[in-house]
Amino acid sequence: MFRKLFRYTKGYVLETILSPICVGVEAIVEVIIPLLMTDIINNGVGTGELPPNPDLIWRNGILMIVMAFVSLLFGILSGIFATKASAGVAKNLREDMFKAIETYSFSNIDKFSTSSLVTRMTTDVNNVQMSFQMMIRILFRAPILFISAFVLTAIINWVIALIFLAFCPILLFVVILIMIKAHPYFKVMFKKYDKLNLVVQENVNAIRTVKAYVNEPEEKEKFYIASEDVMDFAKKAEKVIILQQPLSQLIMGSVNIIVVVVASYMTLNAILATKVGHITLFIMYAQQILSSLIMVSMVLLTIIMSRAALERIFEVIETKSDIVNPSDPLYEVSDGSIEFKNAFFSYSSNQEKPVLKNINLKINSGETIGIFGGTGSGKSSLISLISRLYDVYDGEVYVGNHNVKEYDLKTLRDQVSVVLQKNVLFSGTVRSNLQWGNENASEEEMKEVLRLSCADEFILTKDEGLDSIVEQGGVNFSGGQKQRLCIARALLKKPKILILDDSTSAVDTATDAKIRESFKSYIPSTTKIIIAQRISSIMDADKIIFLDKGEVISFGTHEELLKTNPIYREISESQMKGVK
Ligand SMILES: Nc1ncnc2c1ncn2[C@@H]1O[C@H](COP(=O)(O)OP(=O)(O)O)[C@@H](O)[C@H]1O
Ligand SMILES: [Mg+2]
Repeated sequence: MFRKLFRYTKGYVLETILSPICVGVEAIVEVIIPLLMTDIINNGVGTGELPPNPDLIWRNGILMIVMAFVSLLFGILSGIFATKASAGVAKNLREDMFKAIETYSFSNIDKFSTSSLVTRMTTDVNNVQMSFQMMIRILFRAPILFISAFVLTAIINWVIALIFLAFCPILLFVVILIMIKAHPYFKVMFKKYDKLNLVVQENVNAIRTVKAYVNEPEEKEKFYIASEDVMDFAKKAEKVIILQQPLSQLIMGSVNIIVVVVASYMTLNAILATKVGHITLFIMYAQQILSSLIMVSMVLLTIIMSRAALERIFEVIETKSDIVNPSDPLYEVSDGSIEFKNAFFSYSSNQEKPVLKNINLKINSGETIGIFGGTGSGKSSLISLISRLYDVYDGEVYVGNHNVKEYDLKTLRDQVSVVLQKNVLFSGTVRSNLQWGNENASEEEMKEVLRLSCADEFILTKDEGLDSIVEQGGVNFSGGQKQRLCIARALLKKPKILILDDSTSAVDTATDAKIRESFKSYIPSTTKIIIAQRISSIMDADKIIFLDKGEVISFGTHEELLKTNPIYREISESQMKGVK
């Protein structure tokens, strides 16, 4: 898992290598400084029979200052390199995730959910970035510190080295025990954190609905519970973690006492050539050895915790879109004819309850087709198969006499322009939004499609015209205005097939009729598929598909459906009553 992570150092390999090297120099210098100190005490200040040696004190003192600066310098350098490398890794990860998400099919997105994708790209990447930084610094620093301090101690006095060795397992045991106890709390805490994110995200996204329903108290309560949960588990984890510091201190203190006692005894009895200065040296090394042990175990814990985050990241990167280009794709859609042959479709892999059952339809190029049916009858699902937003699991869908699976995806989607039910505008200007439809569209073409979709009346009358600002999600436009802009955007593609999924629901009937009129004159050869709740929107279509529970019940003209389909007739009559 982490080996895979190192592939993401691309572009930052030098920093990734330099950081541990610098940290190594820092650690070695830190081990040398106590040696100089010991030399001063043993040979500089003068004890017993030895006279004081000011030269040595000065020399070692200056050397110590220089070394302290060297250690500082390399510490800072390694910090800078590690920050650069880890930020680079995070950037590479995010880029790959984004690239992967862009290729996702609709069903891939259904699987992950938007909020989870966002959390993965932000929180999870941050966690990995942090632990990567620790990995290339502390995970190198601590072992170097440990080994060099231990080896030097062993060379000078093997008895003291043995004492260190005896305490290491005790310290490790305590630290690891605490980690193991705290780990589950942290794990739950991160899950609760996800929950908190979800509550916040959902609420902020739907803040208008929340306000409209005066649902703030309930939402506050939900947030309060989620946030309380996070605090609970953070407290529980911290309660355990907090023990680590005093317990480690206790162990270090005990080591110090034992070292002082043993080293003093050895000095007094001149065992193993131990001198007074060595006592300070051993105490300093004890600190370095034991604290590097603590550091390593803490870093290991962080790495273990970020493993889950890394898994979630790689899941995003490694998920392959289930809708991909064929090996030898067609780059030309000959016409706007559509055919469904025994098509079955389901959103889940559970094919026992298909959303669309045995669909057989033949639509000629240039026809206007209405689709009518209750909510949930499968209208949106049906049209999503035409531009291959989803794939059928049985049967075939043909566009321009070729199976949709034979086309290059971009070609197909350029020629099949869909105004989705939940279509959105992007922040920018009207112009930038229209350019989504066709980036090379001229000023005139843009104005024309705005006229055709009856959006000219609220765009072109303004001073800013095409440069009118569109805020995020198009909130500065009414529902009907947004719909008309989306239609204009779809028209700019001059597609062979134009699909409107309930795209004029918020537009008044007269304008709705005007838009349909303009379709007839502007794009006569384009196949137009119109999903609508209002019978008046589809009654003049060449044919109407009546869907119910994922099945085509009727397929014919308005008059034919009035005759053969009692439900259609009933709805039609009740809707027309209001009009007459
Ligand atoms: N993304 C989705 N994931 C799972 N089920 C879905 C999804 N979209 C729609 N459905 C289900 O498929 C059925 C048909 O939905 P849809 O085609 O949107 O109906 P309509 O557009 O006629 O209202 C419904 O039962 C709906 O719950
Ligand atoms: Mg729908």
